[in-house]
Order: sequence, then C-alpha cells, then structure tokens
Amino acid sequence: MAVEPTWISNAWYVAGWDAEIDTAPLARTICGVPMVFYRRLDRSVVAMRDACPHRLLPLSMGLREGDSIRCKYHGLKIGPDGVAEEMPLKSEAVNRRICVETYVVAEKHRFVWVWIGDRAQADPALIPDLWPCSAEGWVFDGGYYHVACDYRLMVDNLMDLTHETHVHAGSIGQPEIMEAPIATRVDGDEVVVERWMPGIEAPPFWKEALKREGPVDRWQICRFLLPSAVMIDVGVAPSGAGATLADHDHGVRGMVVDFMTPESADTHHYFWGMARNFDIGDAGFTARFKAQQGGVFAQDKVVLEAQQRAIKANPELKLSAYRIDEGGTRSRQMITRAIKRTTTGFERELA
Ligand code: FES
Ligand SMILES: [Fe+2]
Repeated sequence: MAVEPTWISNAWYVAGWDAEIDTAPLARTICGVPMVFYRRLDRSVVAMRDACPHRLLPLSMGLREGDSIRCKYHGLKIGPDGVAEEMPLKSEAVNRRICVETYVVAEKHRFVWVWIGDRAQADPALIPDLWPCSAEGWVFDGGYYHVACDYRLMVDNLMDLTHETHVHAGSIGQPEIMEAPIATRVDGDEVVVERWMPGIEAPPFWKEALKREGPVDRWQICRFLLPSAVMIDVGVAPSGAGATLADHDHGVRGMVVDFMTPESADTHHYFWGMARNFDIGDAGFTARFKAQQGGVFAQDKVVLEAQQRAIKANPELKLSAYRIDEGGTRSRQMITRAIKRTTTGFERELA
C-alpha cells in the first residue's frame, strides 16, 4: 500500500535563508528529495538533485567550477542546467543526455524558496505572504533548526501557545496565557487563533521592549498559512492606551515568523525569526533578540523530538485534541484537504 504523503505538492517551501546559500554547495533534503543548492557567479540560485548521474555520489561533495559543479568521485562536470559538460575521461565525447533533475527556485522575504511539484505550475505569486520579513519599517532576523519530528507537530505547537506557560516559563510564558480565552476561526485559506490578555503584568521580555512599568494589554494572534507557515502577531500595549485585538499598534509589536519545511515524514527544517517595527535601528537588540528566541525555540525542539519518539514508541495510542488544539487541528485539516486537491489534480492530468 502506498504511504500517504504528509505534505502538500505544488507549493513553495523554504530551502534556506538567503545568506545560508552561497557559492559552496549546500545539501538539504526537501520533501523527501535530496537537493544541492548553490549560487552562480551572478548570485542566482541553482537547485538540483544531490546525486551524480554516474554513481550517485552526492554532488554537494563536489567542487564548484564557475557556474558548474564537478563530482568529487570521477570528475563528471554538471552545468547549472543539470546537463553534463565534461565526462570523467576527457577523451570521451560529452553525452548531453546525461543530466540531473533541477528545481525551480525563487528568492523572497529573505528566504530561498524551492517549488515542489509540477514545475510548469511554479508561480512566484504563490509564495506565502510573509510580509513582515521584507516590509518597510520592519526589521527581521532569525535562525534555523533541524528538528526530528513531523512538521505538523511544530504547526500544532505554534498554533497553541498554551505551552508557553510550561515550556517557556521565565521568558515569554506566564500563567495568564492559560487563563485567557482563545478564539479560533478559519479565514479563507488561513487558520487564526486569537488570545487577548488585558491588564496583566508584562513578562520579562516584553517589559524590556516596552521600557516602562505598569499593567499591559497583551495579545497573541497565530495565523497558519499553507503549505506550512505560521505567523504570530505578538506584543503588549500599556493598559488604557486603547489597544484592541483588531487595532493594537499602540505599544510594541512583533511578528514571529516560522516556516516548517518537511525533510522526511518525521523530520523537518525549522526556519524561525522575529520581525518587529520598534527599535528597528538597534542591531544589538536584534542580536540579543535572536539569541533569546533561539533559546526559546530550542526548548520547543527538545519537547517536540521527545513527543515524536513517544508517538513512535506507542503506535497503538492516538493524539487527543482538547479545546487548546483547535488551531492545530484546523490547520492539519487544511493541509489534508490541500494534499487531496493536488493528488486529485495529478490524477486528472494522468487520466
Ligand atoms: S560518481 Fe560522479 S563521476 Fe562518478
Ligand atoms: Fe514554544
């Protein structure tokens, strides 16, 4: 029986931070396909299957020569279009039918994106709208973790911030998170979970950002976007400043931006960051912020990898869903429906 895919085809996925991909080959498996990424001399990105057409040695072990890459084993030279340019034996005529698969890439919002699926349908307009990563008046930075769990467990995690109280006590967690009611809704192609915490004491991180004492109104608005992004609008405003869920630009506001790119059924690439529209010229703040966020997400990584191991070790048990899980559950339903849509589309084409 064929294993059902757990991710969506015909979609853009983050392959790496723009600064991560340079002239040296970078190996990264995306949605089950081993790929190698590098930049041409004009800085445009090449993505191809990370296997030499000869004996399948990863091309990422090879050496760059101009815009091409030479296999480390017997020296077959492959151009950026994936086609052989030189045979191992110099006296042998080049066989242009020797080639590796290449993939469509695009750069946007500080990330390199790769299209998974039918390349004729690769439209850059379909790249998820992670607008805070590149908007005027915002600064954005973040990092990368390899996480040994199904990417959907990370979606669940980000769409339910109740866990902050326990997993992130001491930084962004506080008991009020568990007391505040949440509202979950489907908004077109997105799932939204809103939490409003009026008149509370700001947790340490937000107190520092706001630079003032006194009670605050705190908000968290989690938004899931296909194929696997979560953006979380977070911040605090002094109580009485007039902030509401719909109109909260009265204090300090950040956008946590997360993209989960499946690597295999139970591992994924986690690209995380934070965009903010306050103190944007303060590079020291950005660096401290990134280090702090990296620490917070490292705590999630520990929990989620343990959860994945427990899921494997208890195959007869099922995940339960409580009120707090509605955002994750609805996001998963959206993923499942999109998988069905693309699969049906392919079937139609093949018929
Ligand atoms: S494996 Fe690449 S040239 Fe032989
Ligand atoms: Fe977390």
